[in-house]
Amino acid sequence: MPEGHKGHLPRPARCVKSIITNPTTARLDMSEKSPLPLTSHMAKGLQGSARVPGDKSVSHRALMLGALAVGETTVEGLLEGEDVLATANAMRAMGATVERRENGVWHLWGRGVGGLSEPETVLDMGNAGTGMRLVMGLVASHPFTAFFTGDASLCKRPMRRVAEPLERMGARIVARSGVRPPLAVVGTDAPLPIVFELPVASAQVKSAILLAGLNTPGTTTVIEPEPTRDHSERMLKHFGARVDVGPGPKGGRIVTLHGFPELTGRQLVVPADPSSAAFPTIAALIVPDSEVTLPEVGTNPLRFGLYETLKEMGADILLRNPRELSGEPVADLVIRSSRLKGVVVPPERAPSMIDEYPILAVAAAFAEGTTRMQGLRELKVKESDRLAAMAEGLAKAGVAVEVEGDDLIVHGKGRPKGGVLIETNLDHRIAMSFLVLGLGSEQPMRIDDSRAIATSFTGFVELMQGLGARIEASSPLIIAIDGPAAAGKGTLARRIAAHLNLAYLDTGLIYRAVGMKAQREGLEPVKAAQMLTPDDLKAPDLRSEEGGQAASKVASIPAVRAELLEFQRRFAAHPPPPAVGAVLDGRDIGTVVCPNAKIKLFITASDEARAGRRHKELLERGESSIYARVLEEMQARDERDRNRSVAPLVPAPDAVVLDTTLLTADAAFEAALRIIADRTHA
Ligand code: C5P
Repeated sequence: MPEGHKGHLPRPARCVKSIITNPTTARLDMSEKSPLPLTSHMAKGLQGSARVPGDKSVSHRALMLGALAVGETTVEGLLEGEDVLATANAMRAMGATVERRENGVWHLWGRGVGGLSEPETVLDMGNAGTGMRLVMGLVASHPFTAFFTGDASLCKRPMRRVAEPLERMGARIVARSGVRPPLAVVGTDAPLPIVFELPVASAQVKSAILLAGLNTPGTTTVIEPEPTRDHSERMLKHFGARVDVGPGPKGGRIVTLHGFPELTGRQLVVPADPSSAAFPTIAALIVPDSEVTLPEVGTNPLRFGLYETLKEMGADILLRNPRELSGEPVADLVIRSSRLKGVVVPPERAPSMIDEYPILAVAAAFAEGTTRMQGLRELKVKESDRLAAMAEGLAKAGVAVEVEGDDLIVHGKGRPKGGVLIETNLDHRIAMSFLVLGLGSEQPMRIDDSRAIATSFTGFVELMQGLGARIEASSPLIIAIDGPAAAGKGTLARRIAAHLNLAYLDTGLIYRAVGMKAQREGLEPVKAAQMLTPDDLKAPDLRSEEGGQAASKVASIPAVRAELLEFQRRFAAHPPPPAVGAVLDGRDIGTVVCPNAKIKLFITASDEARAGRRHKELLERGESSIYARVLEEMQARDERDRNRSVAPLVPAPDAVVLDTTLLTADAAFEAALRIIADRTHA
């Protein structure tokens, strides 16, 4: 298989169907699930008003309590991200009726407290840590077993903290090592009310216990070491449950739920999510000449730490028209571009803004002075190690950052350089944070994949574009290298690909394989192209001069070229991840295969220099070789390549011609890198 394939092959082209369906490579075919890289460019000034999607925490709880309430519940403004949809599916799977009407309003008919039924299938919670932990709580006090799974990232996250109290209530949790999903919750028919002191402040664990407490006799009590998000308490009260909240021993609170409440259907409007609003908020702050309004954003004090911090940094944010929606405080935020300054963010604030540190770190990069974000331990066990991801990404973008224990320290200088690619590891907040950074940085920012953004903020890109941001799909960087035989393009292409982390495709090898297969198996060349397999590309004699001659003969047949074209184009358009671009070398890459390639090189050298190099190479390989013969054969092959009717060997009009006659391999490489750098900036 050509180097750079490494077993990944892009979507099937007819000619290489057999390669694609080869069992060892097929599983790596990302055809329907290709990453969606994006680039964000410096914006001129963001203007306008936009409602960000509904609050994720409130959306999860609205569905769960609607599924337990008697009668009809309607929910407007539900966050329709994959996480919340997974919760909706879980509620359906346990017997509730959950419908989305055309106008976007959700209608639920619940089963009453204790009325859920055993799901027939595995509950797939996708990427949702909240969904998984809260639904585990619901199941714990029902007399049945439910199986849970999630995506690769969720399956890495430990569920011990929630499993422990639920087991004390009488449920049993059977999980993989480290109490990680997939896991089963074996619910109990005789749940015990508990008084549980949270070892670590966690709204998810508190909520799981309270939800389990609904179908538990007596009172279930959770003692927090410090206040955590109270959406569950607010929503439980809103649906008619009795929840007493009092001060706790260490500054936290004591929350007591009275079991077997009668929950009745409600009409809910979900506030806009303050965690999602954080992205356009910071974008408006860092992009000069911006004024953005974000209506109905939740201002629950336990979620509003970011905005408090931004105010301290000097942000111009107005809370207009404060009011209540579904038991939650909201206001319309009006944000204007501001000169920010560095601040210390104390660890006590972490619970009220844990999801916001990545985007706060971006704000800090644009501030003047140092911002020290303290006590971010929780950030390491989120969708990814966000502390490390932010530190690495910011450093790459030219920001001075340090990690000291659990603290993230950002030395802001007003405007970062940017101009780099960030690997998001499927973390939506990391993806959005670096796209926002690119709206204000000197050079555009690229992210490798934006698919994860939908888990919390569907329509993020469109909303930002509506405000005037330039965020667009990044097309893969394609470097086309053409030239006559033995000009040194293969060596060069390989080095460039390795240097720039791009995938590499040696298209000559494909023609050689077709030529040799046709010869060996006595096949029509077109047939040989159609039947090409990965093994054909590994044949030992492909690199011989005989292979070159065989290649150049089949390469002049239009039908053979047509067979191979689609595969080469797909390789360029969908380079095997994590590469975000590809280097292809051959004869017609810049002219036919990738006429739109950003960078085109035509590598050439005098006939004598090329023949001399090939002659030396053959001798070094221990093959017998006569210089004059090599020269003659090479010239014959070039002749055929130049004069054929399809895809003749010529430099593309926009190719840069590099003559390597007098250059060493190193000098040619340096020269090529300079051309690439010039072209990339242009
Ligand atoms: O590059 P390499 O010497 O391996 O190519 C072998 C032959 O394959 C060339 O002489 C040419 O006839 C053919 N070829 C082509 N188009 C390409 C790559 C190779 O026609 N893109």
